[in-house]
Amino acid sequence: MQLEGKVAVVTGAARGLGRAYAEAVALVGASVLAWDLNPCDETVGAIRAAGGVADAAAIDITDFDSCQAVAERALACFGRIDVLINNAALYGGLKGARFEQLEEAQWDAVMAVNVKGVWNACRAVVQPMRDSGGGSIINIASLAAVFGLPYGLDYVASKAAVIGMTRGMARELGRDKIRVNAIAPSAVMTEGTEEFFGEKFEKAKQVIASGQIIPRNLETADVTGTVLYLASDASAMVTGQTHMVDGGSWFL
Ligand SMILES: NC(=O)c1ccc[n+]([C@@H]2O[C@H](COP(=O)([O-])OP(=O)(O)OC[C@H]3O[C@@H](n4cnc5c(N)ncnc54)[C@H](O)[C@@H]3O)[C@@H](O)[C@H]2O)c1
Repeated sequence: MQLEGKVAVVTGAARGLGRAYAEAVALVGASVLAWDLNPCDETVGAIRAAGGVADAAAIDITDFDSCQAVAERALACFGRIDVLINNAALYGGLKGARFEQLEEAQWDAVMAVNVKGVWNACRAVVQPMRDSGGGSIINIASLAAVFGLPYGLDYVASKAAVIGMTRGMARELGRDKIRVNAIAPSAVMTEGTEEFFGEKFEKAKQVIASGQIIPRNLETADVTGTVLYLASDASAMVTGQTHMVDGGSWFL
């Protein structure tokens, strides 16, 4: 799959899956804009060291003005935006609890980043995509949303919202030749997942793998292929879909 000549924005690209997506799309020719609250120096450095093109921007995706400002800067530098990978989220540091005991402040923060942040990034890039004749938006949901992960209702609700937004936006944007799809991975071995499970990480790895039809844990490289497919013209007539990348944990 080739993304030569395309410009891809990846949110939450400082580490983990976002960094992997950024490096993967760069490897097949896309110029990458790495957006994160935290510095993306390592991501950008790795892409440039491999001969790719990348630029970083510090951004809080809960703030629309911040999204719009970096989108405008990106347009000025790269002239177009073709792909948006909506990956930034609150995940690793979240405190799990029974739903009635979740902290209200955490609930609000999860909705602000995981739901409103996706909306903000989409509305910052949609006009540039229209102007260049189309594009591909890839929203990162989670197996948690379709399975109904217990003790994380804030996260579950936010990722279910991502699937709903994917479907709604796909219907609105088809005529603009902008496709909108979601990816729902099961647990991937990232720093975020290690933080999420804490001291139960090793046990969780075993339980998760044994619940999958293909009984091994996912690495970041297991998800990048689906991102490349959805970013490229190989999926030109695929929109509104949620792609489970979960070793066969759940059939939609
Ligand atoms: N790792 C998994 O097992 C897994 C499984 C399913 C879905 N996901 C989803 O995949 C994505 C990445 O997962 P990960 O494990 O790499 O997570 P992570 O926590 O390591 O990375 C999230 C990134 O988002 C950034 N971010 C957080 N808030 C932000 C904000 N307000 N503005 C800009 N950037 C912000 C963080 O700085 C971080 O770099 C998330 O959407 C997560 O929900 C992960």
